[in-house]
Amino acid sequence: MRISVIGCGYLGAVHAACMAKLGHDVVGIDVDDRKISDLSAAKAPFYEPGLEALLGDVQKTGRLTFTTDMAAAAGSDVHFICVGTPQKKGENGADMTFVDAAVQALLPYVSSGNLVVGKSTVPVGTAARIAEWVTSHQADAHLVWNPEFLREGHAVSDTLSPDRFVYGVSDGSEQHPAVAVLDEVYSTPLSKGTPRLVTDLPTAELVKTAANSFLATKISFINAMAELCEAAGADVTRLADAIGMDDRIGRKFLHAGIGFGGGCLPKDIRAFMARAGELGADQALTFLREVDAINMRRRTRVVELTRELCGDGLLGKRITVLGAAFKPESDDVRDSPALSIAAQLQLQGAVVTVTDPKALANAARRFPELQYVQNTEDAVIGADAVLLLTEWQEYRELDPHLLKDAVASARILDGRNVLDPIKWRAAGWHYRGLGRP
Ligand code: UDX
Repeated sequence: MRISVIGCGYLGAVHAACMAKLGHDVVGIDVDDRKISDLSAAKAPFYEPGLEALLGDVQKTGRLTFTTDMAAAAGSDVHFICVGTPQKKGENGADMTFVDAAVQALLPYVSSGNLVVGKSTVPVGTAARIAEWVTSHQADAHLVWNPEFLREGHAVSDTLSPDRFVYGVSDGSEQHPAVAVLDEVYSTPLSKGTPRLVTDLPTAELVKTAANSFLATKISFINAMAELCEAAGADVTRLADAIGMDDRIGRKFLHAGIGFGGGCLPKDIRAFMARAGELGADQALTFLREVDAINMRRRTRVVELTRELCGDGLLGKRITVLGAAFKPESDDVRDSPALSIAAQLQLQGAVVTVTDPKALANAARRFPELQYVQNTEDAVIGADAVLLLTEWQEYRELDPHLLKDAVASARILDGRNVLDPIKWRAAGWHYRGLGRP
């Protein structure tokens, strides 16, 4: 099929490459020249495992091109909307400027029988609004809402082999003409047994925000348990192991630590609360305020713990932060709890050095006042305390004996509870985890 993908960020660039991998003819369109020239040269504009290899692989087939010219969408059967919906400045709601602008710019190139497929995470009600625009421009074109559940760091495999597909169509029925077209787009994963659900438009929009809210709630639940474990002298990691053995609960997303960040969960739960308020259903989501508060409290707690760890205050203390990305296998620093903690420590008088295998350039743009050092060995020299805040594999594998020779004081705060306290203490370190005795 001929496909256009509007917006080539974390979602769109991966989606475009994966659609070409599935055999379609794809054009990726974005307003950012730099992104388009990188992608055209088969270079990933951000770090995502497997993406660059995939771009190289599919571009050789001639099935994938990139451009800044929206006119290139003309002639495609299916147009995917993959632009961002960031948090509005100074408000909780989602900023819909990019979605609205993308659809308006696309409309002149939408022809009879085409599908416009929304993948961006949007406030419920958006799809109905956009469906009006589409059908008033082209009566027999269709708007479908097809939310994307990919995780950064696993974006390629999540797109090629998702857990499920959700198609939101205007009448919510299997017989809607758009269903067969989207089935053809996704024929390869569908033939491998990926389930797909057809819903109405608002349900499809809500599936995405509900899923992210549930995940955020799960993380904040275990972080609330970590607070309790700290107060009671218990170990949250063993507690999570034990409750996670109940199938109904499950161990995934029960890693207590410095909390969630990134470009999705924080802004999505806030936008969800804002939208519920507009719909007069704000009471239903007041618990998400608590989820957000628990999450933000973790960051303050780490600053307090670092102060305790250093003994006599933070002023002038040399702190090395391992990890700047919001999670491993990503260079994304949007709302990264690690960077937010590093910045707070620096504001309180510590001298903070940050290292990360992939995210330093993005981190330096966001917080230029921090010091950045590329490799771990150099970053830890002379440290009064080391904070592991993003659990990259190389930090999990650090040798406590070797590290001890480089630092000024052997004190470590394990913000992700991924190190073995027995091993680190045996090597002479003062070890602190979160929610662990
Ligand atoms: C999330 C959703 O998982 C994905 O389905 C959706 O499409 C987009 O938002 P992503 O933002 O890539 O994906 O990251 P995710 O893996 O969900 O992690 C989010 C944050 O939660 C990270 O900061 C991570 O470190 C943190 N986290 C995750 C925990 O603190 N504990 C956990 O147990 C799991």
